[in-house]
Amino acid sequence: MTAELEKRAIAVHGAAYAPYSEFRVGACVQMNGKLFDGVNVENASYGLGICAERSAVFSAVIAGAHELAAVMVCTDASPPSSPCGACRQVLYEFARDPAAVVVTSINPAGERRSWTLAELLPDGFSGRELP
Ligand code: THU
Repeated sequence: MTAELEKRAIAVHGAAYAPYSEFRVGACVQMNGKLFDGVNVENASYGLGICAERSAVFSAVIAGAHELAAVMVCTDASPPSSPCGACRQVLYEFARDPAAVVVTSINPAGERRSWTLAELLPDGFSGRELP
């Protein structure tokens, strides 16, 4: 499954819409045993853009998948970049066990970095605190 995640993240990276930052991001998430792709989609009203990781998760939710197992992100950055804070929190929402969710970042040159979601967002807000 990791090879497939990687292939898809690299492929979808080309579909990123990033005319303002020129920082193209592709993501592929494994949720409920299926793979869902996402890209960053920017806007002339800069604050309205969305990251690739969140667009992948939202597409999984549209398909009814709520259980996150793995994340693959592809950018042109060297070393590969890690997900932003907002995306970490959105990923956390769907991770039953954040220590078991592996987040990997790659670039087309073949470099890679990996973390668990628990490492990226220690002591995250789970919502269990809500009334
Ligand atoms: N971006 C992502 O898609 N994912 C991240 O984790 C970091 C940043 C996007 C947002 C924006 O379109 C561009 O990269 C530059 O910040």
